[in-house]
Parts: sequence; C-alpha cells; structure tokens
Amino acid sequence: MIISLFDLFCIILFILAIRFMATPKTANIGNYSAIISMMIAIGISFFPLPEKFLWLLGAIFLGAIIGIIFGEKIKITELPQMIAILNGLGGGAATCIAIAETNILKHSSAISVLGGIIGAITLSGSLIAFCKLQGIIKKRKIFLSPLIINLCFLLAVSAAPLFFDSQTILVPVIFILALVWGIFMVFPIGGADMPIIISILNSFSGWATVAIGFSYSNVLMIVVGTIVGASGTILAYIMIKSMNKNLLKLFIQPDSLTTNNVMEKMPNEGNPEDAAFIMENAKNIIIVPGYGMAAASAQYAIKNMADILEKKYKISVRFAIHPVAGRMPGHMNVLLADAGVDYEKVFELENINSEFSETDVVYVIGANDITNPEAKTNPDSPLYGMPVLDVDKAKVVFFVKRSLNTGYSGVNNPLFFASNTIMLYGDAKKITEDINKILEQ
Ligand code: TAP
Repeated sequence: MIISLFDLFCIILFILAIRFMATPKTANIGNYSAIISMMIAIGISFFPLPEKFLWLLGAIFLGAIIGIIFGEKIKITELPQMIAILNGLGGGAATCIAIAETNILKHSSAISVLGGIIGAITLSGSLIAFCKLQGIIKKRKIFLSPLIINLCFLLAVSAAPLFFDSQTILVPVIFILALVWGIFMVFPIGGADMPIIISILNSFSGWATVAIGFSYSNVLMIVVGTIVGASGTILAYIMIKSMNKNLLKLFIQPDSLTTNNVMEKMPNEGNPEDAAFIMENAKNIIIVPGYGMAAASAQYAIKNMADILEKKYKISVRFAIHPVAGRMPGHMNVLLADAGVDYEKVFELENINSEFSETDVVYVIGANDITNPEAKTNPDSPLYGMPVLDVDKAKVVFFVKRSLNTGYSGVNNPLFFASNTIMLYGDAKKITEDINKILEQ
C-alpha cells in the first residue's frame, strides 16, 4: 500500500516534470521534479530488500558517478550525442532485465522478450546514431536496400522460435539478431533524417520499458515508460511534420546524400563595418540562429547585439527559430534562454515566416539548411518538402559563417548567391562581437 502511494507520487512528479519543462521559465523546476521522482523510484525498488542489495547499491553509485562526470563535462554542442547514448542505455537496461529473466527464472514471457528485442534494437541503433553524430561513421551505403534488410530481420526475429526449442538458447539468439538489426536499421540513415531517428529511438527505449514493466507487473515502469514512449513518438511526429518527411520512407529508402551545383557565381561579401552600418539604419531585424551559433557559443554575443540595437538604436529585434535548427529539438531555445534572451522575442517558424517580407535586415548566424529555398523548389534535394525560414524575402540578408560550405544535409544553399545576401565570413562569435564593438561606438 505504502509502495503504491510512493509509485503514485513518482508518477505525478514525472508528469509535472514534463509539464514544467514545456517552457524555459519553469524548465528548472521540471528538472528538479524529475530528479526527485527518479531518486524516489530508485529508493522504492529496494523494498522488499533484494538479496544482493550491496551489489545493487555499488552499481547505482558507479552509474551515478559516471553520469555526474559526463553531465558536467559534456559541451552543449554534444548534447545530441549524449541523448543518443542515454536512449541506448535505456534500451540496453530493458534487454538486460529480459536476459536475467530467462537465465535466472529459466523461462521468459512473450512480453518481456518483446521488450528485450525493442531494447536491443535501441541499444545498437543508438550507438550507431552516436557514431554518426560524432562523425565517427560517415558512410551510409550498405550492400542491400534498407527495405530488404529490415524485412529480412523482421522475418528472422519472428521465425527464430520455429528453430529453437529451449528458451535459454532461443532468447539470446533473438536478442543478438535484434542487436544486429539495430545496426543495419540506423546505418543507412543520415543527414536531415537524424533528428527523426533519434526521437524514434527515444520512444523505443520507453516502449521497451513498458513491455518489461508489464512482465513484472511494475506500475511505475509501465507509466514512466509510456511517458517516454509517447513523448518520443510525439517528438518524432513533430520532426516528421516539420520536415515534411515520410516515416515509412525512412526505413525503406532513406534520403540519399545528393549534391547540387549552385556555385557558378561569386556571392556578395561584406565585413562587420558594412553590417553595423546597415543594421543601424534598419527599423526591424530578425536574427536566425543555427548550429554554427551553438558551435561558436555565440549566444551571449547575439544577446548583446540585440540589446545594443534595441536600447541604443531603438530597433525592433526578434528571433526566428526553426524546429530542427541546430542538432537537437529545442537546441536554439535552450541556448537563447541560457543567454537571457526574453522568450517573448523568440518566435517559432509558423509565427514569423510571413514577417520576413516586412523586414529590413535578417542576421542568419551559423544557420544554413533551415533557410535553403531548394527545400521548396528542388524535388531532388534531401531537404525537399521541409518548411524553411523565408529569409530571402527580407531587404538584406547577412549570412555569418566561415565559408560557403554546406550544412548538415550536405547540399549547397543558392541563397548565398542572391543579390540581397551579404556573406560575413568568420567565426559566428568573433564576427558578432566585432559588429557589437562598432555598434557601441
Ligand atoms: P546547418 O545546416 O548544419 O548549418 C550550420 C552552418 O553553421 C554550417 O553551414 C557551417 O558553415 C556554420 N558553422 C559551423 N561552425 C561555425 C562557426 N564556429 N561560426 C560560424 N558558422 C559556423 O545548421 P542549421 O541551419 O541549424 O540546420 C540544422 C540541420 O541539422 C538540418 O539539416 C537538420 O535536419 C539537421 N539536424 C537537426 C537536428 C535537430 S533535432 N535539430 C539533429 C540532427 C541533425 P561553415 O562551415 O561555412 O562555417
């Protein structure tokens, strides 16, 4: 009875955590709520006291130390990799429980084997996703089409029970097949499809927990797994919708790395003096941050720029956020909130896209794919169908980046060569600070 009450308390705290994390204002409370809830959940799993509870304590202590070290050390630009690893660990834990059930109890229920399969796919798939995000794996081509490979694994996993009688042999065979399936499932995926697969793996880790929770009749695992599974599924749906992708195509025929050729003329090139002069004389400015702002840690410089423009020059400054800007959902929102940018000045794509035609200056800082107009015009582009920020409709567009290099999707951006675009080559933070110095004078 008391344990059930604690379960209920944890569930309420987890749900509140998700609710609080919905806005930057209350995100910290949400974080603490999730931490407290998780600590209580771990605490109540000790009742009744398990046989080798000292081993359990040792493992939890070791895990906590590793978590704290990595949490402290991780750079904000490496958060997507960390999320990939955490998803994988969630899936791996579910598979370990399913293995323990077979080895110790000498039997396993269909639901726990299902949890173990989803967990194993999540573990190996997430490790491959980590290697891709970290740039360790760059290749995507495999010997067979992803459709055939996925069908073969589905068939192999489903047919395995026909070939093995003993569960102690069958279950490990199925889990090994699922591990290899995860590798082959994620390997051909890359480019603009990466955020979708990360969200899907996130939801898999939740569903694996739900399955294991059912097999142990553990209400807390079922509810928390459902929260993770459902939120991952919703996130994947939002990603798919915001990039106008097709979920089935992701596993059948992921986007190829096509390159386009738009480098035939030279773009307009400017310097911080030009930028400061044009900005001072503008009535309204929209700042579009992208991955390069995160990579250069330029969020504080950009907040300073917005403050100077507003206070000294009385110019209206707003921020436009694309749903997949950067390398993880909400990446730009987190960075801007961290720098103290007022949330009321931060607008999502659908709320600001119609405003670019009325805008004097757009300052695109370290963003590329999210502005590429080929997403609207070129059916061969891997970005085709993804809604983009219509920055080209503004009077003047500054692109702050170090070169004409492509972004994550690997395709060139014809906007760099438009007549109203001015390229400001250099590190996002350095260029913005240089402009700020001139604006302050
Ligand atoms: P990208 O298209 O990747 O462009 C970022 C640009 O930043 C690059 O072209 C790079 O150009 C520039 N850059 C890098 N470091 C810089 C620095 N220190 N200073 C100045 N510029 C720098 O980024 P985006 O526009 O934000 O679009 C996001 C892309 O990532 C999309 O394709 C999206 O699908 C993908 N993706 C998103 C997520 C999520 S969930 N957000 C996850 C994985 C992948 P230079 O090299 O010339 O400087």
